[in-house]
Amino acid sequence: VEMGPEMMFEFLYNLPAQFEGCLKMDFSKASGLKKEYANIVVTGLGGSAIGGDILRCYCQSRLPIPVVVNRDYMLPRFVGPDSLVLAVSYSGNTEETLSAYEDAREKGASIIAFTTGGKLAEMAALDGNPVITITGGLVPRAATGYLFAPLVLVLERLGLVSGASEDVKETVTVLTQLREEIEPGREEDSNRARFIAGQLYQRIPVIWGCSSTSEVAAMRWKGQINENAKAPAYFNVFPELNHNEIVGFEVPEDLVKKLAVIILRDPDDHGRITKRIEITKDILQGKVSSVAEVEARGNSFLAKTYSLIYVGDYASVYLAELYGINPTPVQVIDYLKARMA
Ligand code: PA5
Repeated sequence: VEMGPEMMFEFLYNLPAQFEGCLKMDFSKASGLKKEYANIVVTGLGGSAIGGDILRCYCQSRLPIPVVVNRDYMLPRFVGPDSLVLAVSYSGNTEETLSAYEDAREKGASIIAFTTGGKLAEMAALDGNPVITITGGLVPRAATGYLFAPLVLVLERLGLVSGASEDVKETVTVLTQLREEIEPGREEDSNRARFIAGQLYQRIPVIWGCSSTSEVAAMRWKGQINENAKAPAYFNVFPELNHNEIVGFEVPEDLVKKLAVIILRDPDDHGRITKRIEITKDILQGKVSSVAEVEARGNSFLAKTYSLIYVGDYASVYLAELYGINPTPVQVIDYLKARMA
């Protein structure tokens, strides 16, 4: 897919519409599957895997069985006939995902493929496994709605989770409102995403979330800065980072001064986490280049997570603009995939 920088803004603008489109999708193909599983495994890579992480966090408080994300050629040993494997690949041609699909088949798991086509669609169709066809013509990271919502809506259809459609609807409302505040028409003084991009420019972004709420958003910010702005970025989560990373801001001082810390906050964070964040900010005082915060919007986990993701997505494209870089192509990934062929 070869597109100019303005296309990425258009994709971002259309994210709420992706969720709305998913609410209208037909998941009846999957309804013949079993309704009870010992575990659920989402297998995919990069832009196709992060929806799995959102699902994992979403299900943590809703499902009595584990949801695990696999980003490798082989699935974990516990996968078997009592497992549901969701194989996700935007292109349908990612070799690790195809290999994991074959592993799931050998292990006798129930499988659903989510893809725009490619070999994954062919293999799953030949095996008689449900293929949920998602809209093509985008780059995977710009298709995050299509790569996440169908997963949770299928689980809802199977009766494994409830309330997912309502959560997706709230996400549409929250993102549509938020979009007005962060789209390119809004100048830096009133545009949080542009402001954040300004803080990250010529600095090394360090994105912190909280393990129970904003972990995936922090992970997504990092990936979006890497892929859109072609810049380094790192992420970690509270409370874990209080047990190692905070020690690492002493030397070399000139490098530490180059770090720009972003903390992704949720008003519902555990009270002890809120205290940890305040103390950590004091510890960083005067050491790093800047510390900025982004607060989640909405009520449901999904709306809150995507509100944080949305600010990061826009910020990463503004950062690409500041660097004079086209956010869309990922030539290094293409080069690596070609060499692996
Ligand atoms: O954002 C990207 O382009 C990558 O992270 C891809 O998602 C990743 O390489 C996997 O490809 P696919 O999503 O087609 O399976």
